[in-house]
Amino acid sequence: MISTIYGIFALIFINQVCCASFRELPDVPKSKWIRREEAPAGSKATRLFVSSYEGTVTTVELTLSDASTFSKHPALTIHKTASNEDCGDSPTWLSWDSKRRTLYCLNEQIDTSKGRAATLTQYNVGSDGQFSDNKIRPTFAGGPVHGVVFHPIGEDEEDEPSYAVAHYAPGYFTSYDPHSRVRGRLSLDVGPPGPTERQQELVSSGHQIILDPGKQGQVLVPDLSQDLVHIFQCTRADCWRKGTVAMPPGTGPRHGTFWISPDRKKTFFFIGGEISNLIEGYSVDRSEDGSLKFTHVSTTNAVQLPMQEEFALAEIAVSPDNAFLIVSNRGNNATSVDVCEVTGPRYACESAQSDTIVTFALNGTGVLTSGQTWPSGGVAPRAFALNRKGDIMAVGTKAGLVLLERNVSTGKLGQIMADLDFDDQVTGVVWDDSLMNYPSRASKVPAYQRFWQRYLTKRLRRDW
Ligand SMILES: *[C@@H]1O[C@H](CO)[C@@H](O)[C@H](O)[C@H]1NC(C)=O
Ligand SMILES: *[C@@H]1O[C@H](CO)[C@@H](O)[C@H](O)[C@H]1NC(C)=O
Ligand SMILES: *[C@@H]1O[C@H](CO)[C@@H](O)[C@H](O)[C@H]1NC(C)=O
Repeated sequence: MISTIYGIFALIFINQVCCASFRELPDVPKSKWIRREEAPAGSKATRLFVSSYEGTVTTVELTLSDASTFSKHPALTIHKTASNEDCGDSPTWLSWDSKRRTLYCLNEQIDTSKGRAATLTQYNVGSDGQFSDNKIRPTFAGGPVHGVVFHPIGEDEEDEPSYAVAHYAPGYFTSYDPHSRVRGRLSLDVGPPGPTERQQELVSSGHQIILDPGKQGQVLVPDLSQDLVHIFQCTRADCWRKGTVAMPPGTGPRHGTFWISPDRKKTFFFIGGEISNLIEGYSVDRSEDGSLKFTHVSTTNAVQLPMQEEFALAEIAVSPDNAFLIVSNRGNNATSVDVCEVTGPRYACESAQSDTIVTFALNGTGVLTSGQTWPSGGVAPRAFALNRKGDIMAVGTKAGLVLLERNVSTGKLGQIMADLDFDDQVTGVVWDDSLMNYPSRASKVPAYQRFWQRYLTKRLRRDW
């Protein structure tokens, strides 16, 4: 009946070559393991939307069921409840408008050999997580990698929103009105590429859309090739270039985030360099005409390890409680997770390599305090997202989706709560905030009460 049961021990062993051999662990009472089971009717659920280069957009449901037959403790189950292929061959980013229950998916269309073009797909998502009324539009430039739902100046919060897109190759900024008609299409090519070989390959490469927290209609676009951040201004009618912020040469800015200090007196901007693997911190001031001014205040090693060329910082985000800055680091394999399989009365564990998530504490100086380095639960943690409460982190790796528990007061990540296989890199992860009754109970589950599914077993197909 119960064929396999998995447990997890997350270990960190920096700079150690990882073993693939099976070994036995001391006997652990069965009551400490939770079996995977189907969600019983009426159980509480929360939901995620996941995009993957396997070519899908998927609704994932987490269900906290009451006592399972195997344990008296509640169990977390995870399953895919809807999957759709209308986001094309290379779904690369998801944005969620929870108010209108609209999910936006960008198709990067990495393989252009078949003459297929990059697209933006809009899904209506029902209260049951099913997709309907899918609209597929062209993006008016190739290689879209990131997009944001936003309101330009003159568009009311109540209006149907606009959408802004960063294009990686070649670098473009495009903006769409509520009917997906292109409003602005601006080349990012304004200067010479940065000093590294990878930067020289491309003229310009937009990587993300970051909105000005001051709601002045300004949109920032980090450019990995040119070591700068473009600033655009959008109104209802038009978008135009407002300026650029230069980064140190060789940074390769990928993703960034604003942070407003708890007393709301100071604004900072932190940007992660995919090439330098440094986080550059800027203090941000606003001049009278609303323009943003950036003053460099800090440089931090994002990986917290001696630098290596394989490192490739991916995501950077502030925790929902505004206290921590979190980055995902690819290409280091500096940690491992033990994936344990139970067969009959015995079980054996296999050690799998993992990249890292690093958490820093924020304070009003803009200088980061290094906190925890923790396994991301797999290789290539490209996207991650915390739920609104901040006690679960969903991480998109090369092999699937991993859910890590997180202590909201310390900011520290903990055990893997659940995982789900995908056939290729998970590229976008968003929580459906409207269904949030699971997390309040999650923290009551002791750390060892986790179940775990084998992962990283399939051949990893794509380089990032
Ligand atoms: C990290 O580990 C994965 C899985 O074992 C492997 O495919 C990859 O090549 C490793 N990367 C580096 C940089 O060692
Ligand atoms: C902020 O953090 C930095 C880095 O840990 C530290 O040097 C500094 O003293 C802190 N400042 C305040 C005001 O807490
Ligand atoms: C979070 O960590 C603190 C300090 O270690 C601990 O007292 C608290 O119980 C933890 N919270 C949860 C939900 O585990």
